[in-house]
Amino acid sequence: MRLSERVAIITGAGSGIGRAIAREYAREGARVVVSDFVQESGEETVELIKNEGNEAVFIRADVSKENDIDQLVSQSLSNFGKIDILVNNAGVGGGLAAITEISTEEWQQVMDINLTGPFLVSRTVIPAMLKTGKGNIINIASMASLAAGRGGLIYTTAKHGLLGFTRQLSFMYGAYGIRVNAILPGPIETPMIERVLTMPDHPVSMKLRACPAGKAGKPEDVARLALFLASDDSEFIHGAAYQIDGGYTIF
Ligand SMILES: NC(=O)c1ccc[n+]([C@@H]2O[C@H](COP(=O)([O-])OP(=O)(O)OC[C@H]3O[C@@H](n4cnc5c(N)ncnc54)[C@H](O)[C@@H]3O)[C@@H](O)[C@H]2O)c1
Repeated sequence: MRLSERVAIITGAGSGIGRAIAREYAREGARVVVSDFVQESGEETVELIKNEGNEAVFIRADVSKENDIDQLVSQSLSNFGKIDILVNNAGVGGGLAAITEISTEEWQQVMDINLTGPFLVSRTVIPAMLKTGKGNIINIASMASLAAGRGGLIYTTAKHGLLGFTRQLSFMYGAYGIRVNAILPGPIETPMIERVLTMPDHPVSMKLRACPAGKAGKPEDVARLALFLASDDSEFIHGAAYQIDGGYTIF
């Protein structure tokens, strides 16, 4: 097993990509902290993992709230004694409104979850990683980290920022044994975009049909890449940005 003896925190693990990563890591021997701000869905992920005979606990946390993050990290450490892997996955979509229609509150809310969240969680986890002299942080960014388009203004700005955060953090902490990388998914079948995928005439659906894979990805596709990045198979990979989009962004 590729993650035996490792302890992993995954934010937003009550649904979609985060849930798939949590299950994949647990199958590979990790002890998984499933975190989400929705209690029921997080507990459901833990149930799924336990039903497969693997180990997980749920700790509720809103990634945009400092107190929640302090508790998430201190409880993870008291449960398992260390943190080897952090997946900053929690995120929300943003609207497509014109800049003049975006309120300061809406801007702040999407930024708080998608960009300040990974900052807060990483800031709180890194001291524990420095103690053991190794760590692995994976940020779930987006194709909107590289290109403008259907993400809308706030989401695209936040995800571009998350890529910069990934690179700078990698640059600063690689020498201390901490690897930091980003995954940039294209359209993936999760609740975040399921409404779009049901509309055959939506621009995203039309482009998907024309792209090399010809369809949206599954959360499990992203989970396999997240497993590679968390494992020693990728030990020379620092500060990288992996597109996983079925070719959606090549044209
Ligand atoms: N689905 C896609 O097509 C796609 C594409 C590119 C990037 N992404 C990114 O992948 C990540 C996961 O998205 P998904 O598609 O699985 O979405 P999802 O909506 O299925 O899951 C997101 C999870 O994050 C949780 N969450 C939201 N705000 C939170 C907060 N403040 N604190 C803690 N948890 C919170 C939600 O409760 C939910 O369980 C996001 O960062 C998203 O931006 C998704």
